[in-house]
Amino acid sequence: MEFKNLLLETNDGITTLTINRREALNSLNSSVIAELECAFYELDLDETVKGVVLTGAGEKAFVAGADIKEMSELSSFEAQDFARRGQRVMLLINRMHKPVIAAVNGYALGGGLELALACDFIYASEKAKFGFPEVGLGVIPGFGGTQNLARLIGPNRAKELVFSGRIITAAKAHAWGIVNELFSPEELLPKALETAREIAAKGPLGVAYAKDAIASGLNMTKEDGFRYEASLFGVLFATGDQREGMGAFLEKRSAEFKGK
Ligand code: CAA
Repeated sequence: MEFKNLLLETNDGITTLTINRREALNSLNSSVIAELECAFYELDLDETVKGVVLTGAGEKAFVAGADIKEMSELSSFEAQDFARRGQRVMLLINRMHKPVIAAVNGYALGGGLELALACDFIYASEKAKFGFPEVGLGVIPGFGGTQNLARLIGPNRAKELVFSGRIITAAKAHAWGIVNELFSPEELLPKALETAREIAAKGPLGVAYAKDAIASGLNMTKEDGFRYEASLFGVLFATGDQREGMGAFLEKRSAEFKGK
């Protein structure tokens, strides 16, 4: 698919996916959402891609939310459908086998914060801003934000952020555990790429199963999660990556994983 709103660049197996709709602060309209769904689907299938860094074009915004102009005209049924399409992208990122790091370079508001929260973790510029302004528009977050934020930082802080519609600094988002690490604007992308490359050098099946165990386990009882973890642990012992990883350790050399 040809993308009008996305830029994709792959180097050393890491794809930088940039949402590029600067005139509307990279906000998510139906086209961007459809393109993101297609892009993540293709990236998941592409064997040459080991990880993704997601960011926004320009210095001002990661993504300033879902497109308010488009949403303002929606009927109730269309709005539900719009939310489901956005949620499909979030779930796709959750389920894909490769790590996705959000590099939040500016405003991450509403659907933009939801997109960042759907990624495996968030790095941010010290100048980034975070918030859920939806209640100020008479609605609620609709791309999984209420669910993902409460699971990440607990219901009380999630309620404060969502109920107030307040926009918080990167430092506060970091202190609250929304953001893993803060960087200067210049350092952000290189640091996200460096981490993506570090992960890509590990066993890809191990990374994929660890992602699955953590994501699936959050929806299970602890005992079921333990059982699931043990079964994935066992499955990995049927792979070449396990033999290569442990063999390389014992032979005191670097492992060369094949993802098989
Ligand atoms: N949707 C559509 N257009 C948007 C937008 C959005 N979410 N955010 C910004 N834009 C557009 C503006 O309309 C403006 O376009 P024009 O030049 O054509 O007027 C352009 O981007 C630049 O924005 P501003 O002039 O407003 O820039 P600013 O620096 O003064 O303010 C801002 C920046 C604080 C981010 C402000 O743009 C803003 O508040 N944006 C809306 C944020 C928001 O409410 N997001 C949540 C949307 S609801 C949602 O996401 C629902 C969901 O969960 C699914």
